[in-house]
Amino acid sequence: MSNYLQTVEDVYEQAANAPDANLCCTQSPVWNLPDLRVPPIMLQMNYGCGSTVNPRDLRPEDTILYVGVGGGLEALQFAYFTRRPGGVIAVDPVAAMRGKAQANFIEAARLNPWFRPEFVRVLDGNALKLPVESNSVSVAAQNCLFNVFKENELEQALAEVMRVLRIGGFFTTSDPITPTALPEAFRADEIARARCLSGCQTFDDYVATLVNAGFGRVDVRARIPYRLVTPGEYPNLTQAVLLESVEVVAYKVPDGLDGPAIFTGRHAIYGGAAATHADDSGLALPRGIPVAVSDAAAARLARHADIVVTPSTFHARGAGCC
Ligand SMILES: C[S@@+](CC[C@H](N)C(=O)[O-])C[C@H]1O[C@@H](n2cnc3c(N)ncnc32)[C@H](O)[C@@H]1O
Repeated sequence: MSNYLQTVEDVYEQAANAPDANLCCTQSPVWNLPDLRVPPIMLQMNYGCGSTVNPRDLRPEDTILYVGVGGGLEALQFAYFTRRPGGVIAVDPVAAMRGKAQANFIEAARLNPWFRPEFVRVLDGNALKLPVESNSVSVAAQNCLFNVFKENELEQALAEVMRVLRIGGFFTTSDPITPTALPEAFRADEIARARCLSGCQTFDDYVATLVNAGFGRVDVRARIPYRLVTPGEYPNLTQAVLLESVEVVAYKVPDGLDGPAIFTGRHAIYGGAAATHADDSGLALPRGIPVAVSDAAAARLARHADIVVTPSTFHARGAGCC
């Protein structure tokens, strides 16, 4: 194992043994769902940088793989939707973290009559070699782990996610991103990397890496400020950088007509004389009705004088035409 991966495991072994609410910086409110009571220890051990759970996406029949269990907060939230033994499979190589998550699931069962600890199967395993069969899960999730990987390991982790996902399934993911490439000396800081600060990609690279892994559709759900890192705190930085956190859902589906379809919240609205604008690609825009479109389709449609195309909001919500 590379040294830096060992550092990552060491940091999270420590974070399991001594919960550190400041380790990651998520300010995302947790889901308040009927009859869901989150144990306070899971909130203290919220080491994510956004949310990968969205009730709109999830069905009881889903089998959900969660990579990097942390204190178990999101695995519990996913189990809320599946509610059966093994409906959620959580993988983590750090024994102390797995032990802590399992203890937290026992506490969750005490607080939530609908939940049983076996609803989340916790496995000893690594993102780089998932202990899960190919094409066996409909949803895969990771929160604030993949940003710690360097290029080769990131490619390998994404290839593993692709392998285990069924066709039509999706990968829900959240990580910090940086507005500009970070200085090499900061990127080499292994502790800052393990703490989800110095391994960040730019937004464009983050999306391109998902596309290169083979995802045919990528929805950008959110971009929010994550953390201001300064040279005072990290002398390897030459200037302060405001990191953002991104929430993305990537689908294991074929590319669209314009290639991989990246949805960043853009809409096309037809305002012409006909009832509908239609073209050979199967696109149909009913007059006056906003339709979510990919960035590539938005660029193509913007050339029509009677179609209004809105800018990226980074709040894509699924659906859309192309
Ligand atoms: C930043 S924490 C995120 C925890 C959780 N996803 C959350 O949102 O609270 C990273 C997690 O990944 C685990 N981890 C570290 N290296 C890993 C690897 N190579 N494969 C899978 N999980 C790993 C850590 O033990 C820790 O539980």
